[in-house]
Amino acid sequence: MRSSSVKAMWSGLLALGVLAALVLAALGVPVRAEPGPAPYLDPQLSVEDRVDDLLDRMSLDEKLGQMTQPERRYITPEEITRYRIGSVLSSGGSAPAPNTPERWADMYDGFQRAALAQPLRIPLMYGVDAVHGHNTVVGATIFPHNIGLGASRDPALVREIGAATAREMAGTGVDWNFAPCVCVARDDRWGRTYESFGEVPELPSMMTTIIEGLQGDELGGPASVLATAKHYVGDGGTAGGDDRGDTRIPERELRAIHLPPFRAAVKRGVGSVMISYSSWNGLKMHQNRYLITDVLKRELGFTGFVVSDYNGIDEIDGESGFTRDEVAAAINAGIDMVMVPTEWRRFIEYLRDGVKDGDVPVSRIDDANRRILAKKFELGLFEHPMADRTYLGTVGGAAHRELARRAVGESQVLLKNDGVLPLDDDDKIFVAGGGADDIGVQSGGWTITWQGEPGPITPGTTILEGIRAAADSSTAVAYGRDGTGVDGSYDAAIAVVGEEPYAEYHGDRTGDLGLDADDLKAIERLRAADVPVVVVLVSGRPMDVAAELPGWDALVAAWLPGTEGAGVADVLFGATAPTGRLPVTWMRDGGQQPINRGDGKEPLFPFGYGLTYD
Ligand code: BGC
Repeated sequence: MRSSSVKAMWSGLLALGVLAALVLAALGVPVRAEPGPAPYLDPQLSVEDRVDDLLDRMSLDEKLGQMTQPERRYITPEEITRYRIGSVLSSGGSAPAPNTPERWADMYDGFQRAALAQPLRIPLMYGVDAVHGHNTVVGATIFPHNIGLGASRDPALVREIGAATAREMAGTGVDWNFAPCVCVARDDRWGRTYESFGEVPELPSMMTTIIEGLQGDELGGPASVLATAKHYVGDGGTAGGDDRGDTRIPERELRAIHLPPFRAAVKRGVGSVMISYSSWNGLKMHQNRYLITDVLKRELGFTGFVVSDYNGIDEIDGESGFTRDEVAAAINAGIDMVMVPTEWRRFIEYLRDGVKDGDVPVSRIDDANRRILAKKFELGLFEHPMADRTYLGTVGGAAHRELARRAVGESQVLLKNDGVLPLDDDDKIFVAGGGADDIGVQSGGWTITWQGEPGPITPGTTILEGIRAAADSSTAVAYGRDGTGVDGSYDAAIAVVGEEPYAEYHGDRTGDLGLDADDLKAIERLRAADVPVVVVLVSGRPMDVAAELPGWDALVAAWLPGTEGAGVADVLFGATAPTGRLPVTWMRDGGQQPINRGDGKEPLFPFGYGLTYD
């Protein structure tokens, strides 16, 4: 344990010092009392005492710096020292070059050294979106997106995934994760539906075990990173599934559907909470003092700190950029740290003016600092600020990939099976579809880049490679992306189709949720060969397939499995029995959106549906 070994070291040093003083005194050598290190640097003191001591020593500018989070591309190490910056982030896809784990660790250490060069030596926290593994790092293990984990109904598995993600992060130095998203996605047209563990509060609440995995039994243990429950609150409830839109529901419903996962996250000791871009009944969450201060901090008893979303304070008045009033409104609402990627100098200036003019009380600045500093102490950053490179070898390591493969297997949902599945390993198989042989497509958004992209973007096993490995080596598995080449000699044909990668905002769909023309054409070719057709859907949400389904012999919802495509093959060949169950209601047609458990609408497959093998 990091903190206990440090404590032991300190008591040892203290004892040695006392002994030396006694010896010197006995020899008649005069001993002069030197001022010891400041109390806040003493890990034997309580976090509360350390925070008190440190806060007493801080100037206003030092306090403002702790509340400011620039993006790595828009700040230099020298500026971190000069402006007393307390945190830096990598936004989606923002990586050092070359994008290797070692380079990440070097980058982190460089920023950290700059923070430690400030007079009070306050370490910084570095935040990333490791939302399905340490996903911005090439070579990291990419786990299934949350929607698939919700299908697994396995909170212990999700805890293990959190711990594995934390290890991969720790090796690169990154100590803060903007995850988990505990949103309750109510309208599948929303482009962040796959970041949700499911459409009912029970699922995200149950999967807050991931927080225990990320943070460990307590912050500061080995490979422990700070987790973030996001996006507070109601992000998944916006009208029309509009990203950053308005959640127009009464408070009773907000509390019944969207609040419970945050309550669960707070119970599990989550260190930070990120505010949602969305509004609640027309009021931007970034200025909602009632929900942030009264409900989250007071009623739920959240003692960690609240971070804004990326440029989130800009959205308060609906105009681009932020004003002094928006800064004051956000801080007074209870936001403790502001993600202010580029305009961080102006943010500091506005906040300083706000404090000087009395618009933002000093007590609010102190409260924000207490919350932030407490987490830095708890994380053990004052004692161990640099990257723990002993974990570098875990990045994309075999044990983590094995765990991811198991998670993929557990997340597959078998929706239809006319008897073609499981396949026999000596079956002659034809594989088609744009998702069959593409790591980028099967990983989805938030993979290496923000929106994700097709192609061999990071090492892994494609679904086709998984199928090839599962099939008997003497049986050639044929592949034709668009279905060309299939004929009646095959025992089965598998079409891996669905959605191309997307993330927030860009992923909103307003029209239908059907398959595109290329996918439909490929499936048609397979069907025309008169062989049983298995459709494997790689998508971030249910798709509108009701019209085509009668012509398919089997349908598997694979969600966005990540780098370990062998987990899909495990289910297709029966090495793993399908046990996944729908975490969302599957619409009969796109016009039914929003459709959710218990709303009286007639779905194609209800929430909780999932077949297995006999
Ligand atoms: C997203 C957050 C994310 C942040 C930092 C925002 O656009 O809404 O979920 O944590 O960017 O990358």
